[in-house]
Amino acid sequence: MRDGNGRKIDYIRISVTDRCNLRCRYCMPEEGIDLMRHEDILTYQEILKIAETGARLGIRRVKVTGGEPLVRKGVSQLIRELNAIEGMEDVTLTTNGLLLGDMAPELAEAGLSSVNVSLDTLDPERFSQITRRDRFVDVMKGIESAVRSGLKVKINCAVMEHLSREDVLAFTEYSVKSGIPVRFIEMMPIGQGRKYHAMDNEELLKILSEEYGDLRESTEPRGNGPAVYYTYASGAGCIGLISAVHHKFCGSCNRVRLTSDGFLKLCLDSPAGVDLRTPLRSGLSNEELRCLMEQWIRVKPESHHFLSPEGREGELPLSDGTREKCLNMNQIGG
Ligand code: GTP
Ligand code: 5AD
Ligand code: SF4
Repeated sequence: MRDGNGRKIDYIRISVTDRCNLRCRYCMPEEGIDLMRHEDILTYQEILKIAETGARLGIRRVKVTGGEPLVRKGVSQLIRELNAIEGMEDVTLTTNGLLLGDMAPELAEAGLSSVNVSLDTLDPERFSQITRRDRFVDVMKGIESAVRSGLKVKINCAVMEHLSREDVLAFTEYSVKSGIPVRFIEMMPIGQGRKYHAMDNEELLKILSEEYGDLRESTEPRGNGPAVYYTYASGAGCIGLISAVHHKFCGSCNRVRLTSDGFLKLCLDSPAGVDLRTPLRSGLSNEELRCLMEQWIRVKPESHHFLSPEGREGELPLSDGTREKCLNMNQIGG
């Protein structure tokens, strides 16, 4: 379907849990956050009902996210069932990779096509500082297992403050050697991410161009998201830039989000999430759910406002079944 701004909406990001086995500084405070109550989390049946309704509205691609999606039991089965929905063409996952070592084969077997692994540094010590857990080796094992299982793999590096020139070059070398695309993401002022400065991806591009004169923009499709990719004439490496803050790709936004407690979020920076769980649990029919989703997708906001000076704090329930809430990234799923 098209939203009120004429954008084709064919992608949904579904967060299956707000729980996570890391504590990345830009995502969660050390002590964690108040987790959602188990009874508030959508069941897989409810998620599938919303995804099926989405498919009837033209959703063709699903990204499964968290928190950390692999910590929720039965996620491979959910992926299998998402894949089986009529009209669904691509089911992908974004993970921190800790459990991928064991789970990659079953995920591939369930029909997952690709996996994005969050890895913000190639230095094990720095990894422990950022994530507050000493699990670098598990992530690397996870990546290897995903590649062996035939999954397409990309790495997500969320850029904290000034990533050093050495870090950038270590990632490019890694990409050249492994053939795995590495994407640098501008830190967004969401939840804990507000504490960090969003280094403009333009600066990164400058470092890369100085080092690799033969960098050129690639048109080969490598995902369903907003990354712009660059390759080198001389090698196999591939770098992606997700300029989530400074370059507004909102004009071509194709997506909506479902939080694990059943709110349809129309924009990453959107004040409003629409409660689907309460009406679902009160016996909403399939047709009524379709109308509700269609009505809200139509009014998807035109763009984010990350660069506006006033932050959004607090929670404000609105009278029309929507809520305004400052969520952390583990509750939104990125
Ligand atoms: P593929 O390209 O299909 O692999 O997916 P993706 O890059 O959209 O998904 P991923 O979960 O790996 O997200 C990478 C980064 O892009 C995360 O930091 C997301 O928060 C960010 N991102 C994804 N969608 C949007 C969006 O609509 N707006 C903004 N500003 N950032 C987004
Ligand atoms: N800004 C940008 N990216 C973020 N992520 C988590 N929090 C932020 C933020 N504030 C990234 C994670 C993961 C993806 C889902 O989102 O590192 O790769
Ligand atoms: Fe977990 Fe991802 Fe948040 Fe890190 S960024 S704490 S891996 S949900």
